[in-house]
Amino acid sequence: FKVPKAINEPVKSYAPNSPEKEAVLAAYKKMWNTQIDVPLYIGSEEIRTGNTKNITPPHDHKHIVGSYHLAEKKHVESAIANALESKAAWANMAWEQRAAIFLKAAELIAGPYRARINAATMIGQSKNIHQAEIDASCELIDFLRFNVEFMTQIYADQPTSDSAIWNRLEYRPLEGFIYAITPFNFTAIAANLPASAAMMGNVVIWKPSDSQVFSAKIIIEIFKEAGLPNGVINVVFGDAAMITDTILASRDFAGLHYTGSTFVFKDLWAKIGSNIHHYKTYPRIVGETGGKDFVMVHPSANVKQAVTGIVRGAFEFQGQKCSAASRVYIPKSLWPAIKEQLTIDIQSMKMGSPEDFSNFITAVIHEGSFDKLAGYIDRAKKDTDAEIIIGGNYDKSVGYFIEPTVILTTNPKYVTMETELFGPVLTIYVYEDSKWIETLELIDQTSEYALTGAIFSQNRYAIEEATVKLQNAAGNLYINDKPTGAVVGQQPFGGARASGTNDKAGSAMNLLRWVSPRTIKEVF
Ligand code: ALA
Repeated sequence: FKVPKAINEPVKSYAPNSPEKEAVLAAYKKMWNTQIDVPLYIGSEEIRTGNTKNITPPHDHKHIVGSYHLAEKKHVESAIANALESKAAWANMAWEQRAAIFLKAAELIAGPYRARINAATMIGQSKNIHQAEIDASCELIDFLRFNVEFMTQIYADQPTSDSAIWNRLEYRPLEGFIYAITPFNFTAIAANLPASAAMMGNVVIWKPSDSQVFSAKIIIEIFKEAGLPNGVINVVFGDAAMITDTILASRDFAGLHYTGSTFVFKDLWAKIGSNIHHYKTYPRIVGETGGKDFVMVHPSANVKQAVTGIVRGAFEFQGQKCSAASRVYIPKSLWPAIKEQLTIDIQSMKMGSPEDFSNFITAVIHEGSFDKLAGYIDRAKKDTDAEIIIGGNYDKSVGYFIEPTVILTTNPKYVTMETELFGPVLTIYVYEDSKWIETLELIDQTSEYALTGAIFSQNRYAIEEATVKLQNAAGNLYINDKPTGAVVGQQPFGGARASGTNDKAGSAMNLLRWVSPRTIKEVF
């Protein structure tokens, strides 16, 4: 069960005049000026239905860079049939062959596809180069490499036997097919959801987000070039309700691998539940959904460290991370120093198109997101228990640009302290230093979600108190660091409560959800 030792892919710098900078800018320019046509990928075929939608970059929404084809019901049914047809050969393929395909895909991304997948993520999802590199290259490569290693650890885990009896466990894939629904905000997550289920021998119907079509095309092409057999991962775009209803109506639906909104996940769960008598097996449901992630600063905190964590946690990738810092609790004694440093740091962040590498903030994903964020900013401008202390401007004339914004509230239950906004808007509540414990309790009570959180303190007792009081409030807890940026192989990622099933992406725990083991006892 030995495979090449997984290592985290080093992050490239994209410094001025570096070869990687030239390569990604060339790829960006080429994609910007080419009309890219994205088909459905079903079995061995690329299907062009003729019913298309335009792809426009969020930072320049009048510029059309391509279009993608929308599936009809018959295409989804064909994807299911193709997946099931491919099932036996894939499930019975030696695990080494499956592993080799995904390891080769990782190397293709690390080398020849790196500039293209980063450029597609910059154009289609408006990430700056550093965010695109960390996501579409490094995290995706890490998912593939580490999951191969976790897979072998799972297979190696065998029961005890003796000389007359051989007990063994076969880690079979689930019977049927898996439905992967993926989000726009991480190219790596979008690829990992179908890939991790497929790695364990499953066949998949993958529905990417309408806002991640560009990089999804490159991912499926990489998997195919790496040797993934036709029909193992089938890609359909289009009307989510129709696609979902068609898939959930199949008796062979065996599992859902989902990342997206809490509302949609709960709705899917209810639909699967209401259909339960129809299925051949109990479908596995694995979901990672919303977050309202806290940063709790103790009076003993290092101010510079806390501010860096808050700014990076809240504003990298425009705050469009389920893990983003979005509600911050600061002790009164530190507030003047933190406010000063926060203002300096945020005002030094440049906003604009991702092709200018000095821009830290780019556009939010689409008009719906822009309008929602602008609405909350306007509301904070009027409400008596809130005020905008940094930022607060927005403009959608060219792209969906929202200035990094900080709301200060006197109400710890203010609407933006509790509602997930998914954008560059942070809310701060200043607490009395003497109310440290009460504030920890308040954070727990107001945590409908439980994805990530961060504590900043130099006091070991305070760290201990916060770790205990907030034990159910975050699946990933960071001490003296931002609540974002889990690294595969280092911080398995996921949360509970309304944030998901906590099946830890980037770990064997997740892969185990995609197997239905068979125990065999043989007596000699
Ligand atoms: N896994 C991503 C993070 O940790 C969402 O920020």
